[in-house]
Amino acid sequence: MKILAVVVLLSIALASSNSPNTDAPTGFDNKSNGMVDDATHQTDQAKFDDTETIADGLGPLYNAQSCRECHQNPTSGGTSQVAELRVGHQGSDHLFHNPEIPIAHRAEIITGRTLVNDRAICPNAALPDTEIQEHVPNSENIRTTRVSLGVLGDGFVEAVADKTLIGLAQKQCKESHRKICGQVIYVPIVEAPGQTGVGRFGWKDQHASLQSFSGDAYLNEMGITTRLFPDEVTKLCNTAPEPNDKAGADDLDDVDHFARFIRASKTPARDSKLANPKRWETKPSTHILIFCCTTLGLVTESLCPWWSITDEKCIRSRGEIFRPKAFTMPKISSARRPYGVFASATA
Ligand code: HEC
Repeated sequence: MKILAVVVLLSIALASSNSPNTDAPTGFDNKSNGMVDDATHQTDQAKFDDTETIADGLGPLYNAQSCRECHQNPTSGGTSQVAELRVGHQGSDHLFHNPEIPIAHRAEIITGRTLVNDRAICPNAALPDTEIQEHVPNSENIRTTRVSLGVLGDGFVEAVADKTLIGLAQKQCKESHRKICGQVIYVPIVEAPGQTGVGRFGWKDQHASLQSFSGDAYLNEMGITTRLFPDEVTKLCNTAPEPNDKAGADDLDDVDHFARFIRASKTPARDSKLANPKRWETKPSTHILIFCCTTLGLVTESLCPWWSITDEKCIRSRGEIFRPKAFTMPKISSARRPYGVFASATA
């Protein structure tokens, strides 16, 4: 299982030298990849960096006050050391079950998710006796942490067609004589109710869309409700009106800004030293990695992800960058971004 995890996490995109496509723009310079102008990108980044407070809707349960707290190395949108806790238990049916996390001295039980939040807004001056911090009971004895992933360049990953990823899984399976088969999963596109897409973001490929992921993160990392995720995890201690975040004068809410920030970000550049195949070849344990995960010329396809293909806003904003040419992922981009590129199935 461990090998599988390593293998799929380090999925590598190699562009062939005679490819007619252009490498996706790279850099940690906080500049736009060309999808929007730099000023717009910086406005979006300010939203991503913004520190939320109780008045903004922070919590009641949360992990951090801004996206940047966990996505910032070496710049906003990068990775970080911050890991979060997931727990659960094995039921009498021998299957994995989500945890039951009591809060407020068992006044309420948090169910329906494996995530356990590290922080809470209560007790505070207004509600000194409400103790809602989550604590893991001994019965939840399956525990793991998930480290923060980088989001830079993820717009290019989003623009890879579902069929390309399905093809990759099939190719991998065939070439490894069924020893390693990437698992394609379909996940809901939250902003397009009833639609699904091939999961590609998060350690479990739990989302296909950056807007969906942003809404999910805003709720589960920061406790901020939006049009996409309107329900608080708990109402205890909750004072801000719902949804906590609403569209501003520009008709965009924070989730739109986050998604646009990520979509307009440049990908991490290739680290040529790390990416040198010779370096890996000398280590027998990584042979399998080279064998299974080197993909020639992974190419973006859609102008907009298909679920928003008729969305004028998306076409307008992404048209310029995606229309004239297809992009290939920078060669072995994962060398600088060691986890999480196309995590097709993790342990
Ligand atoms: C407390 C830390 C933390 C905060 C705050 C946080 N994230 Fe994350 N982020 C993570 C972790 C951990 C993962 C991997 C999660 C997983 O797969 O379960 C992740 C994954 C992601 C991904 C998927 C990246 C990929 O390439 O697969 C996106 C997109 C993302 N976060 C966006 C956001 C946005 C937008 C915000 C702010 C609303 C945010 N995150 C706030 C920790 C955080």
